[in-house]
Amino acid sequence: MKKDFLWWRDGIIYQIYPRSYADTQNDGIGDLQGIINKLGYIQDLGVDAIWLSPIYPSPDVDFGYDVAEYTDIDPKFGTMKDFDQLVKEAKKRGIRIILDLVLNHTSDQHSWFIESKRSKDNPYHDWYLWRDPKPNGDPPNNWQSVFGGSAWEFVPELGQYYYHMFYKEQPDVNWRHPKVRAAMLDVFRFWLKKGVAGFRLDVFNAYFKDSAFRDNPTKIGLRAFDRQEHIYDVSQPEMIPLLNEIREICDQFKETYVVGETFLADAAQSAAYCGDDKLHAAFNIGFAHNRWHPKRFLTASLKWYEALGEKAWPNNHLSNHDVQRTATRYCFGEDDRRAKVAAAMLLTLKGTPFVYYGEEIGLRDIPIRKKEDIKDPVGITFWPFYKGRDGCRSPMQWNSELNAGFSQAKPWLPVHENFPDRNVIRQASYPDSLLNFFKSIIEIRKKEPALQRGDFYPLVENPRHILAYLRRQEEDQVAVILNFSSRNLEFDLPDGKWISLLDQDKQISDSIKMNPYGVALLKLQT
Ligand code: GLC
Repeated sequence: MKKDFLWWRDGIIYQIYPRSYADTQNDGIGDLQGIINKLGYIQDLGVDAIWLSPIYPSPDVDFGYDVAEYTDIDPKFGTMKDFDQLVKEAKKRGIRIILDLVLNHTSDQHSWFIESKRSKDNPYHDWYLWRDPKPNGDPPNNWQSVFGGSAWEFVPELGQYYYHMFYKEQPDVNWRHPKVRAAMLDVFRFWLKKGVAGFRLDVFNAYFKDSAFRDNPTKIGLRAFDRQEHIYDVSQPEMIPLLNEIREICDQFKETYVVGETFLADAAQSAAYCGDDKLHAAFNIGFAHNRWHPKRFLTASLKWYEALGEKAWPNNHLSNHDVQRTATRYCFGEDDRRAKVAAAMLLTLKGTPFVYYGEEIGLRDIPIRKKEDIKDPVGITFWPFYKGRDGCRSPMQWNSELNAGFSQAKPWLPVHENFPDRNVIRQASYPDSLLNFFKSIIEIRKKEPALQRGDFYPLVENPRHILAYLRRQEEDQVAVILNFSSRNLEFDLPDGKWISLLDQDKQISDSIKMNPYGVALLKLQT
């Protein structure tokens, strides 16, 4: 590893959804001790940091994304002592912890909201967005909740509505209130002092809303939420000075990283939030919705790089806790060949790769067959058109034993029925598995600075079957060739003698034969 290795630029970030990783309390829900037990596995994978989906006390209307207390740990995940132990044990293994901060809204069970709702003259009342009804009793404006229905909830005792971008149990806070702002910034300080290395900011660009609460203009769309131009309920200019302040706080600690989940924003808008005095990075959401076509990925990548320019280092993800898993989207049945192409792409494109737990063994989404079985309320609301996000949140599959080794008790979501064959122990046992493929690409990436921080040059402008690109860092050049098709193809290489990094340093020049869904990583011999 080079001396100037910078973990968030050169390394790999592994997202864990703690409910579903490993359960030691035997209540069917994963916990912090479970993650601590698996640190050896995580280190062995070769990742540099873990992003933990929320672990704070929460009534779980949105499974942790409704926070009832920002500076504590939910007992179902363990204690603050467990958290400190996790940070310490992870550090020993060279792994950093990134926390998910959900600061656009709290849970309606947060003490701030409970106070806020008591009366109009309660000191906490203005910590949330309360408005009077229109003279005819209607909500104050036309804003809609992403999770369905009006974004305004009426509280008869107060004769006022409060605003919630997500569920009604997730009231949005009033970021313009100086005390809210101060309290939230203290949350950053609290966790930084505990030794976390960074944060993922949930829907940060929704923190501020238009102060005059103007109606959004309407447009054509399927759901009520999509029938509006979201110009007044997200992406307000006040966000930039706030990001400056957040960055200043984080920069007081060594090598921190803040990545934002931009909401309803394209590549250019997301990029505008990044820079030396803003976020280190934002997510490029579109990537995870691409069809299986090399051109789609090339176009999305180039657009992302162009938007970011020199401002910030890109990142890439194919899966997370909100979207269908990579393997579900792209693979046929249990065939992992496309998952390997996707993994090789994710781990070698320019940008920090985010790997979602289980992606390394090709977890598939669990099928959602009945409305009664759904846990994610969005799935219940929009059934049968949209079945929610349970599919991609099922338990990690560790072995072929009871509940895939996830828990001794009935898991909160069912384990995928493919677990007897698709699990960590099984995949570790044969060289050709997706897990071992992931590890070998990660190992190569670790040795090749060009794959970490190198520039990016497409080798085919208009790809139909093969996505090919060069990563270059000073004299080091690595060519990545990914056959997206089920055909045997031949690919003409740029001039020079190439060494195959995946194929025992075999020498190749002129052209390379690509198997169906084949992957080649070639280093230029100098
Ligand atoms: C983000 C999270 C999602 C959550 C929502 C509301 O989009 O990724 O899981 O439901 O914010 O907090």
